Amino acid sequence: MVKEQLTTERNELYKEQFDMLSIGTTEYPYMAKFFENEIFPHLPAQGHFLDVGCGRGNYARPFSEYFTQTTVVEVNEVYFNEVTAWISAQGRNINGYNRDWLEVTLGDVQLDLVLMSHVLYYIDADKRSRFIRKAYDLLKPGGYQVIVLNSEGCGIRKVYKEFYPQDEYEAMPSGEAMAALLRDEGRYPHIEERIFPAEITVESHHAMEMLIDFLLLRQVPFETEAQIAHRSQYVKNNLLCDDGQYIMDSEGTMIILRKPS
Ligand SMILES: C[S@@+](CC[C@H](N)C(=O)[O-])C[C@H]1O[C@@H](n2cnc3c(N)ncnc32)[C@H](O)[C@@H]1O
Repeated sequence: MVKEQLTTERNELYKEQFDMLSIGTTEYPYMAKFFENEIFPHLPAQGHFLDVGCGRGNYARPFSEYFTQTTVVEVNEVYFNEVTAWISAQGRNINGYNRDWLEVTLGDVQLDLVLMSHVLYYIDADKRSRFIRKAYDLLKPGGYQVIVLNSEGCGIRKVYKEFYPQDEYEAMPSGEAMAALLRDEGRYPHIEERIFPAEITVESHHAMEMLIDFLLLRQVPFETEAQIAHRSQYVKNNLLCDDGQYIMDSEGTMIILRKPS
């Protein structure tokens, strides 16, 4: 996969497209309740929360209210600046790194909760295991790490299958594939896997095309007439609903790791 240069222009476009997805998805309201009811009550304490690849702060913003300390790591400087400024303006404790997680040194911290939501798509396959383990090693006994990815059979993976070459499709991690890998490593005594429902709704054909471009990590150049027509047909045939809305099934899989007490 060719990595995009993280220019300010690219980061602003990323923000525009991911903002659209974040507003149109059912995932974040669902997950907020899930964390509140099924994760927070079981943490050792609501002390230190680490959000790796926090993006627009779909979790970091609301969760910072519940933790004594929040740390965010985010490579996109537009999002990083916005999220850290917003949390700090609420008078909450925020620490942040505008850097690749693998290059961050957190020092001697003890984390209660780590979140890696939809970030592993951007990490080379040979680094994913280290990316996860680096945060797990900083958890307190009894602490939790939650990794969120697309589920194997969801509509987003159908888009990958349609537009990516086979090898790139297979290289994109699903929650199920990542969980199997972590189980094979044999280093995580408590691994739970949960599928959750989600869909993304957008109002126009053009918005859905932009969403497809974003989900493909802009790795498919929609430049030629044939490529543009292919995407347009796909949207019409698979994502247009009777009521005129455009809906993508974005079912996800959570991997929940708990460090032994
Ligand atoms: C799809 S967004 C998900 C954002 C957020 N976690 C959520 O679920 O709403 C993935 C984010 O991970 C960030 N990211 C990608 N690679 C990263 C890395 N190596 N270290 C830190 N952040 C990274 C991207 O810039 C992007 O904002």
